[in-house]
Amino acid sequence: QPLAKTVQELAASNIKEVPERYIRKDSTLETSFPVLEIPTIDLQLLASSSTSREELEKLRSALSFCGCIQAINHGLTSSFLDKVQEVGQQFFALPSEEKKKYSREVGSIEGYGNDMILSEHQILDWTDRLYLILSPEEKRNLKFWPENPQHFREILHEYSMKLQVVLEVLLKAMARSLNLEENCFLNQYGDQATMQARFNYYPVCPKPEQVLGVKPHADGSAITMLLQDKEVEGLQVLKDDQWFRVPIIPQALLINVGDQVEIMSNGIFKSPVHRVLTNSERERITLAVFCIPHPDQEIGPVEELIDEKRPRLYKKVKDYVSLYFQYYQKGRRPIEAALI
Ligand code: SIN
Ligand code: FE2
Repeated sequence: QPLAKTVQELAASNIKEVPERYIRKDSTLETSFPVLEIPTIDLQLLASSSTSREELEKLRSALSFCGCIQAINHGLTSSFLDKVQEVGQQFFALPSEEKKKYSREVGSIEGYGNDMILSEHQILDWTDRLYLILSPEEKRNLKFWPENPQHFREILHEYSMKLQVVLEVLLKAMARSLNLEENCFLNQYGDQATMQARFNYYPVCPKPEQVLGVKPHADGSAITMLLQDKEVEGLQVLKDDQWFRVPIIPQALLINVGDQVEIMSNGIFKSPVHRVLTNSERERITLAVFCIPHPDQEIGPVEELIDEKRPRLYKKVKDYVSLYFQYYQKGRRPIEAALI
């Protein structure tokens, strides 16, 4: 059930304190964090069949080191990325009544709304979002796709077509980086998979040291592709029990491994735990696209990645996203659902 007010409306009412439901009960946040050196990977190089061993090794080590890469040369021009960001900004800048035409309905994940309320005790994230299924196209619910701003639909459509290409390049290169047949992740990912977009809007927050934009989590997807805000940082990744800032690299797509690729790779590639901080000065807008195998598709560790040195870590699972939410609601680490 939707809250009375979106976070954007709360923030606009010039409050000095935030409602109790948003305040973290654990320690308050420190103020400075080191930057995570996330490897930059050239997708043009990865796409070629003669990719150098060096480039593949860079990919393999990035995905096992921190589970993410900054992808450049991905084939999306900077003017096109600007347009994608603009339609997001323009949508959240619309009056509330206009945005609420696309409101999420009870029991559904799609549409406009704030943090999903999964339990009464949940501490809420300081964010509003617009969630849309991108593919397969017949699963799109256009009633949630804004008609305003004017070019929203066609730009998002084009974006999803381009990301589909990026995804295939990545899944193939990931397999090759582990000396596997290039289709072995792609085949598990399947041709019935879905891509789902989430525009994240983080309004300014009067109490950034007590409130999170998004609580710590790892993604339940196979792969997530994030278009960061061009100017405002906020994302952090947990590595060796320490939080690191994710820097903004203009025009890069931040790609992270989700739990399902961690499972397929038998734990070699890491699905990073991450969170988002708020700030009291500037709003932040990002666009995450989750790439998710069909629920009937069985996924599990690639056989070639199981041996005496690296025993099977995960079992075969179907519909991991449902398991993910069951565990998440119980406050457990979702990937434990797939542990052997
Ligand atoms: C998320 O991982 O849930 C959001 C990431 C971001 O907005 O930076
Ligand atoms: Fe995430």
